[in-house]
Amino acid sequence: MRLGFIGTGTIASAVVQGLAGRGHEIRISARSRANSEVLAANIAEVQIAELQEILDHSDVVFLGLMLQAAPPILAALTFRRDLRVVSFMAGADLDQVAGLVAPAHVSAVMMPFPGIAQGGSAIMALGDEDLLERIFAPHNALFMLRDAGELEAYLCAQAILSPVARMTSDASNWLAARVSDPAQGEAFLRKLISSSLADSSAADLLEALNTPGGYNQRLRHHMENAGMGAELAAGLDALEG
Ligand SMILES: NC(=O)c1ccc[n+]([C@@H]2O[C@H](COP(=O)([O-])OP(=O)(O)OC[C@H]3O[C@@H](n4cnc5c(N)ncnc54)[C@H](OP(=O)(O)O)[C@@H]3O)[C@@H](O)[C@H]2O)c1
Repeated sequence: MRLGFIGTGTIASAVVQGLAGRGHEIRISARSRANSEVLAANIAEVQIAELQEILDHSDVVFLGLMLQAAPPILAALTFRRDLRVVSFMAGADLDQVAGLVAPAHVSAVMMPFPGIAQGGSAIMALGDEDLLERIFAPHNALFMLRDAGELEAYLCAQAILSPVARMTSDASNWLAARVSDPAQGEAFLRKLISSSLADSSAADLLEALNTPGGYNQRLRHHMENAGMGAELAAGLDALEG
């Protein structure tokens, strides 16, 4: 397909990297130059183009702008009626994006994560599942949502990723002070956590790790007694509010 990207920031760059070698023709905007020049230099099918040229030569255009910046940038462009638009912009549902790109069709709002660059990543999305599957599956896992309310709830809940990364980092640092190869220690913890949850429900894993008096149960009880569960719920409620 002919794919275009308006905004070549952190997330659009990751998406473009993940699409490399899949037979698409890809046009990206020049800003941010550090990203766009590296992508164009390293991925044969990627070229830098002017914003209007991207729209005119694409079947599907992805919006990788910050939402606050988008209205004047998009208002200065002419969208074809048969162009399909996919937005990465948090905070705007299908209807809101439609108002920015008329008369083009807004096919989807999707929230990728930086891991999409390597593939195997979870993607939350609203809209045209078939189109997104054609572009991103099976090398990523699509989670289609029902409406803007669900997207908002998923956006809050996915923020668990940063505290999990923080806990992994803190435990890695604790381990690093005690072992000969700190890098191996962090690699071990990352592999342990990701592989343990990849094919098991959280409830099943908790049960499997619930040996009375075992290391896992003791640390979990310590964290729960310190307020972990209540603080997590309060933090999620605050994001929602
Ligand atoms: N980061 C994530 O993990 C993530 C995940 C899901 C969704 N999102 C959403 O994706 C969007 C982008 O996020 P991001 O983290 O990738 O932000 P970002 O790195 O700041 O990307 C925004 C991009 O827009 C570019 N831009 C600004 N004005 C422009 C213009 N007039 N013409 C062309 N490009 C212009 C910026 O270029 P300059 O750097 O030159 O200003 C930058 O490359 C946001 O709406 C965010 O909500 C992000």
